[in-house]
Amino acid sequence: NLGVINIPVYVHVVYSNSNENISDAQVASQIAVLNDDFRRNNNDANNTPSEFASVAADTEINFTLANTFRYANSRTSWGTNNAVKAEYPPVTPETHMNIWVANIGGGILGYAQFPGGNLATDGIVVSPQYFGTTGYVAAPFDGGRTTTHEVGHYLNLRHIWGDGRCNRDDFVADTPSSDRPNYGCPTSAVHCRSNDQFMNYMDYTDDSCMNMFSLGQKERMRALFASGGGRAAL
Ligand code: ARG
Ligand code: ZN
Ligand code: CA
Repeated sequence: NLGVINIPVYVHVVYSNSNENISDAQVASQIAVLNDDFRRNNNDANNTPSEFASVAADTEINFTLANTFRYANSRTSWGTNNAVKAEYPPVTPETHMNIWVANIGGGILGYAQFPGGNLATDGIVVSPQYFGTTGYVAAPFDGGRTTTHEVGHYLNLRHIWGDGRCNRDDFVADTPSSDRPNYGCPTSAVHCRSNDQFMNYMDYTDDSCMNMFSLGQKERMRALFASGGGRAAL
């Protein structure tokens, strides 16, 4: 048992205007959401339906801000092809999680790289208006859950519908199979054999309607930190 795992975080703020040059308070608000969500200290934990409450997990992973870097750049959107990482490379990605806060454009909230990929592009990218809970943020993605979701990918989690039909797996037993993402704030959703776990951070619902990782997702993430695992050096 590894106990509580701490991940040190570097945040790279890349801005083309003063709004995008988000405040230290906005950065801090996002680190706080990560810690609330991954430790199940989120104040909406009691919204998890009783059906899933017994599998909702404290992942015992926490995050510490190691440094914030700021870069002015006239480019106004960066896309999803890692261009921002080529311009501003990750800092010691073996030992630190790198987050670029830069406008992606095209209505994209964020994107992430799974473990085991190229170190030169390792980390996650989130558009500034979906990062944190205070300052330059835009509803309904102003709860910091985009970053929670992207860190889930960075720690090897798939979307709960497995990005396919009912028999496509997310490799987690306690997230029931689904065949599609859920959006907005559903009250119930059955697409395969049982209720979707649409309140899971790895679905596509609104920030205010997400409130859990599962025990199976916890195990899948924590396996990365065992010796020889894909994130052991963090
Ligand atoms: N579409 C993005 C992805 O698949 C993030 C979705 C985040 N959802 C949210 N409610 N914040 O990585
Ligand atoms: Zn995703
Ligand atoms: Ca599953």
